[in-house]
Amino acid sequence: MTTVTELLQPVELDLENLLSDLRSLIGAGHPILQAAAEHLFSAGGKRLRPGIVLLVSRALSENGALSPRHRRLAEITEMIHTASLVHDDVVDEASTRRGVKTVHSRFDSRVAVLAGDFLFAQASWHLANLDNLDVVKLLSRVIMDLADGEVKQGLFKYDATQTFENYLEKSYCKTASLIANSAQAAGVLSNQSDEKLHHLYNFGRQLGLAFQVVDDILDFTASDKQLGKPAASDLASGYLTAPALYALEENHKLTDLIDRGFSHQSDLKEALEIVRGSNAIPRSRKLAEDFARESRESIAWIPDSCFKTALMELPEFVLSRLY
Ligand code: IPE
Ligand code: IPE
Ligand code: MG
Ligand code: MG
Repeated sequence: MTTVTELLQPVELDLENLLSDLRSLIGAGHPILQAAAEHLFSAGGKRLRPGIVLLVSRALSENGALSPRHRRLAEITEMIHTASLVHDDVVDEASTRRGVKTVHSRFDSRVAVLAGDFLFAQASWHLANLDNLDVVKLLSRVIMDLADGEVKQGLFKYDATQTFENYLEKSYCKTASLIANSAQAAGVLSNQSDEKLHHLYNFGRQLGLAFQVVDDILDFTASDKQLGKPAASDLASGYLTAPALYALEENHKLTDLIDRGFSHQSDLKEALEIVRGSNAIPRSRKLAEDFARESRESIAWIPDSCFKTALMELPEFVLSRLY
């Protein structure tokens, strides 16, 4: 299986610089906030989102070169992503992230809320300093979507009547919006036509949706260790993702278990068994495959280069996390 490091190899050096640049960018805050932000940056995530920005940027430049503004955009993208994770882990009361303790469990919830705010604020400031109003609009929309997605998800907790559309909207807000809008923003900085910008947006949108569906499947099928975060936690928290929603169509017992909030002992275990034993996982996989294919098709027009090749392989890589 291709690892993410292999896939992002064409921008490996850029990504190495990203970490040290991020450190100096967040340098000016209170030591506690800095330590909290640094904690997660150093744990090292997959850096998929800045990787995509860097690949798109280099793929669209005439000689494969990267401008300082494109580089800064990649950094902003990772900052926004990390900020959303710090807040999400507070909301979800998650104990681990990227294989290390979450910010709120290492420090406390107040520090985590402030550290997340601090990162969002820093991202906004650096965004404004790119001096491109279209890019500011795209990325500030993402910050709105992230909050909107968390609220939507909270509202539909334990709601077995929610529609699949609700789930996809929530997934767009929480995951796809950042990938879509940052890919488009890279295109804006590269002066691409409106049509191409639209394709870049769609590439990121469908990739983000595929990524979220895959992540939701892994929550049912993988272990804590494989994920670097607690597994089997979505359903336990009342978050009904693609596998649970498909299983609900097949099995009415599951509705009862969810309606009573898994209040009887063994309810959760039974619910997990229903989902894992139903057709829900293969159907979710099919959904992720469809999104991945659409994502790939959106960037066929990009001129050939090692950067384009990596971009074209990304959708398949997202799916390969399942195998
Ligand atoms: C986690 O994203 C949040 C989701 C959208 C599921 P990643 O799995 O890309 O997290 P890191 O950045 O690699 O830690
Ligand atoms: C991840 O959300 C954070 C965002 C995308 C904003 P989730 O709660 O769905 O994902 P994990 O399981 O914590 O990574
Ligand atoms: Mg979470
Ligand atoms: Mg969450």
